Amino acid sequence: MKKWILIAAMALLATAASAQVTALPKPNMKHKTLKVMQALAERKSIREYSPKMLSQQDLSDLLWAAGGVSRPDGRLTAPTAQNKQEIRLFVFTAEGVSEYLPKTNQLKHCVSGDYRKMVAANQDFAAAAPLSLVIVADVGLFGDNARAAMLGAFDAGIVSENINIYCAAAGLATVTRATMDAAGIQKLLGLGEAQLPLLNNPVGYLVK
Ligand SMILES: Cc1cc2nc3c(=O)[nH]c(=O)nc-3n(C[C@H](O)[C@H](O)[C@H](O)COP(=O)(O)O)c2cc1C
Repeated sequence: MKKWILIAAMALLATAASAQVTALPKPNMKHKTLKVMQALAERKSIREYSPKMLSQQDLSDLLWAAGGVSRPDGRLTAPTAQNKQEIRLFVFTAEGVSEYLPKTNQLKHCVSGDYRKMVAANQDFAAAAPLSLVIVADVGLFGDNARAAMLGAFDAGIVSENINIYCAAAGLATVTRATMDAAGIQKLLGLGEAQLPLLNNPVGYLVK
């Protein structure tokens, strides 16, 4: 009898855990976007966004461009120093915060509630975007390296620029931002002191 109770409890726990993770649509490699020279010409900081939430397909494509798996060996669209892959991407929306899991192309639920103001800090325009991507560098993965924080910052910058170029190419609005309540976000997400929220990109459809 005890054995069956244990099995039932484990099954319940597994269901609860899987409910916390949602699959994203596969990134659409045929997404019609601008060519790279046009995208570079179009890239600019945009601080006004349609309040409409991105479709799941557009979100998947955006996250893949930012830091998805692009090769069979698990390497990513954005390079990382020593291939440490220390960048973590968190999606802040009106509903809550989720973490992008590039290896499985999923979103893992972290917290319920609207914390976009924490990302916006003193810049209200950012809280009006339907989502913000917060770029966290887990610099602990560099070990005892005096340049760890700098390497993390380089890698965060590259991810942010991937987002910028993708948005320019796909007709989305975004801006790279360093402003945010980084300490509050660390606390909210249960991050350690070596897991640094360095940059964020509010993203939304263009206001026509
Ligand atoms: C590292 C970095 C941090 C930035 N932080 C902010 C920010 O906190 N808020 C903001 O509105 N813009 C921020 N920006 C955007 C710059 O203000 C913007 O890139 C600059 O004015 C040039 O404009 P452009 O991006 O349209 O070329 C940041 C840009 C970078 C590269």
